[in-house]
Amino acid sequence: MLEDATDPMLPPAEPVVRIDEPAPAFMARSTQGVVRLSDYLGRWLLFFSHPADFTPVCASEFVALQRKMDAFEERNCALLGLSVDSLYAHLAWMRDLEQRFGTRITFPIIEDISMAVARAYGMVHPESSSTAAVRSVFFIDPQGIVRALVHYPATVGRSVDELLRVLAALQEADTRGVTTPEGWQPGERTLLPPPLDQREADERALSHDGSWYYVPSEQPR
Ligand code: BEZ
Repeated sequence: MLEDATDPMLPPAEPVVRIDEPAPAFMARSTQGVVRLSDYLGRWLLFFSHPADFTPVCASEFVALQRKMDAFEERNCALLGLSVDSLYAHLAWMRDLEQRFGTRITFPIIEDISMAVARAYGMVHPESSSTAAVRSVFFIDPQGIVRALVHYPATVGRSVDELLRVLAALQEADTRGVTTPEGWQPGERTLLPPPLDQREADERALSHDGSWYYVPSEQPR
């Protein structure tokens, strides 16, 4: 039977965060003091959630993110984590990570016991858990717009190199008006966006030997 979305017995629908829409505003306590979305205007922000402190996959991700933090900073991108654990759990876990891996986590991690921020971003998926966030990542641009997002289940660790690659591809698209092919890495050939109308398609066909929709950049930089 189809569910009636207006049925008062059903839980309220989670808000949906979409590509190219403004990221939900927040203000929250973190391991580096109070943070607001507006603090990040003018910079890219990689905002990510993890299911729980003191868990193995999350530990591997945090250490890898911290070790690549310079690469994010070179791209004017800040890192911001979140889980529904308390600030004191976060602080204790950071101390443990430093002792265990020799890596001090310096990016802020939001405490979200009420799950207000996680819910606003759709980081809590009732199908997997009603109390823990999944592994969500939001790429938020310097104007506060969500430009890409991914959700992984708790069992699958994310690739920090892939996160950096997506950030680089978004920036390349913005600065050069191009698209990036499968597996693209900075410095490799990009592609012209598809033609917008028949006239443009005809022009491309003439200037690119009939290849009206697949036009790689002239040469890698
Ligand atoms: C982990 O980070 O290892 C993890 C966390 C929650 C569920 C499963 C794995």
